[in-house]
Amino acid sequence: MDEIELAKRRAVQGAIPYLQGAKVIGIGTGTTVRKLIELIAMDERFTRKAYLSSSFDTALSLMRQGLYVLDPLTVPHVDVYIDGADEVDPQLNMIKGGGAALTKEKILAYFAKKRIFIVDYTKLVQKLGRTRPIPLEVIPSAMTMILRLLKAKGYEVSPRLSSKGKYGPIITDTGGIILDLWVSGGVEDPAKLHDDLKKIPGVIETGIFVDLADVVIVGYPDGFKELKRRNKVSKLHG
Ligand code: A5P
Repeated sequence: MDEIELAKRRAVQGAIPYLQGAKVIGIGTGTTVRKLIELIAMDERFTRKAYLSSSFDTALSLMRQGLYVLDPLTVPHVDVYIDGADEVDPQLNMIKGGGAALTKEKILAYFAKKRIFIVDYTKLVQKLGRTRPIPLEVIPSAMTMILRLLKAKGYEVSPRLSSKGKYGPIITDTGGIILDLWVSGGVEDPAKLHDDLKKIPGVIETGIFVDLADVVIVGYPDGFKELKRRNKVSKLHG
């Protein structure tokens, strides 16, 4: 197994204690989360809990493992939300949406009592957006106008295209189109950029997550560390 795979697995292991007391667990999307689902499906402590999914992909993974997936319409709260991330900065701001599931991910994270993120060490950055774009989910009919506006503001921005099985922009689980927006030099003020983008009519959600992480568990090949609000870093757990 390569080092990053091993690091993801360590992060997943580090998250288990946070899930034990929860009855309703919200689950994010991505390869790290898939590893978590495989692990909890084999563990009796988790097979009788109820799960809320942030995407079709995760719902199918949970279902295939025989785990119980709730309809979010019937659920007023989430005990714990757990997800991966694409980038995490020292203030625990994050970029998410690499899997185009940012809108439902943000809803579940916002309404959860506790939010845990599991990442491998390559996701840690000093400044968001230097090496990857900010995803924006937009209403399809507003795409052309939003693209024009953002380009006029000086951003490099383009619709995320399907790489397989469909021509043209990908359509998300929530019916939107993803625009990937590059910020030259990275994001100076993630909260302000999020607010500015969210004010544009037709923007459903941004992939900038601010104040939505209680704990980030960072996996390394030989253990994991916990990052908590106010920059508290734990020792390396083996
Ligand atoms: C999904 O839309 C993203 O927000 C994911 O959480 C993110 O891409 C992390 O994925 P990996 O665990 O595969 O890195």
